[in-house]
Amino acid sequence: MAAFTTRWRTALWALVVVGLGTNLACSIRPRHDPASPAYNTSPVFTPAHPTLLSAIQDYFDIAPAPAKQPIAFTHKVHLAHGMQCTDCHAGVDQGPDASLPSVKLCMACHQVIDTNNPQIKKIAAYYAKGEDIPWQRVYWFYPSAHVWFWHAPHIQAGISCATCHGDMRQQTVAVRKVNLTMGFCLNCHRMKHAPVDCTTCHF
Ligand code: HEC
Ligand code: HEC
Ligand code: HEC
Ligand code: HEC
Ligand code: HEC
Repeated sequence: MAAFTTRWRTALWALVVVGLGTNLACSIRPRHDPASPAYNTSPVFTPAHPTLLSAIQDYFDIAPAPAKQPIAFTHKVHLAHGMQCTDCHAGVDQGPDASLPSVKLCMACHQVIDTNNPQIKKIAAYYAKGEDIPWQRVYWFYPSAHVWFWHAPHIQAGISCATCHGDMRQQTVAVRKVNLTMGFCLNCHRMKHAPVDCTTCHF
């Protein structure tokens, strides 16, 4: 608690020094919008944050606002119907990416299930146009952190999805329940004797 108070005091000082108004005003931008100037890529490894706001958010472990998804998808309902993570996130146990399901997969069931639901009609409209649903990403790392992540070794080591993503049976659209900081990764790597040299996770 004391450490927390000190952090706030230090941060407030930092804000006064850099000038709260101007800096915050020009740094409030979507956190992961590649079109935004805040989505800064640097060819060299740097600990810098693209914006002051992002530095402050990281310092206090403030999770970004939940993504606004185009469809009111619900993990809860689909998991309650007995579907498995890998039905929709195929490849999670084989490679780096968990991947997101295509609209075709949704329509495999929703051609016939719940077709009068306005949300399902919206899905059908994407499908008819030949477009995928433009899902917003929930978990990511800043390009400036130069982190790469592989799902497969974790799944093969028996680590549950919930360790890093929370209990999806309680979530509608995914929300960032777990803050995947470097400390979080390292704690477990040390405990399980997984590699901890910098190049394991950084490129
Ligand atoms: C050790 C932590 C960890 C575990 C365990 C884990 N994930 Fe992830 N997951 C991540 C990280 C980190 C990202 C972000 C990766 C990135 O942006 O490079 C991510 C991203 C995702 C994404 C977004 C799409 C993608 O491929 O990046 C999905 C979907 C996902 N995970 C599903 C799952 C499922 C399903 C499981 C269990 C079978 C699982 N995850 C287990 C850490 C984990
Ligand atoms: C294996 C079949 C299956 C697949 C694949 C599937 N769904 Fe569903 N979905 C269901 C069932 C069953 C329900 C529950 C219908 C009910 O309660 O009437 C449902 C319900 C829904 C609902 C309504 C939820 C609510 O709050 O009432 C939405 C929205 C939805 N699905 C979206 C999707 C999307 C998006 C995809 C693709 C990523 C998808 N579904 C893939 C079977 C499926
Ligand atoms: C019926 C298909 C379906 C099933 C089953 C399903 N998901 Fe998802 N998942 C999705 C869709 C669609 C999205 C994109 C919308 C969102 O972010 O919620 C998503 C998003 C996610 C994300 C956030 C991805 C990102 O953008 O970073 C995670 C994490 C995730 N799912 C984990 C899981 C886990 C763990 C399970 C099993 C316990 C699971 N999902 C089961 C369809 C599914
Ligand atoms: C709950 C425990 C746990 C957490 C949390 C975790 N890891 Fe791991 N990680 C492991 C284990 C266990 C392995 C497998 C080691 C092996 O196969 O020898 C592994 C393997 C890896 C590998 C492959 C290493 C190699 O050379 O084979 C990478 C990369 C990695 N983790 C990155 C991350 C990152 C980045 C995070 C944080 C977002 C993270 N891990 C969080 C336990 C964890
Ligand atoms: C097990 C995985 C892992 C290992 C090993 C690791 N890191 Fe990291 N590191 C991360 C993750 C994940 C982040 C991003 C955290 C975030 O975005 O909140 C990060 C962030 C950083 C950052 C801040 C970058 C930024 O822009 O936020 C620095 C600096 C850093 N790491 C340096 C190192 C150094 C030096 C080593 C070796 C001594 C190392 N890391 C080893 C996972 C790891």
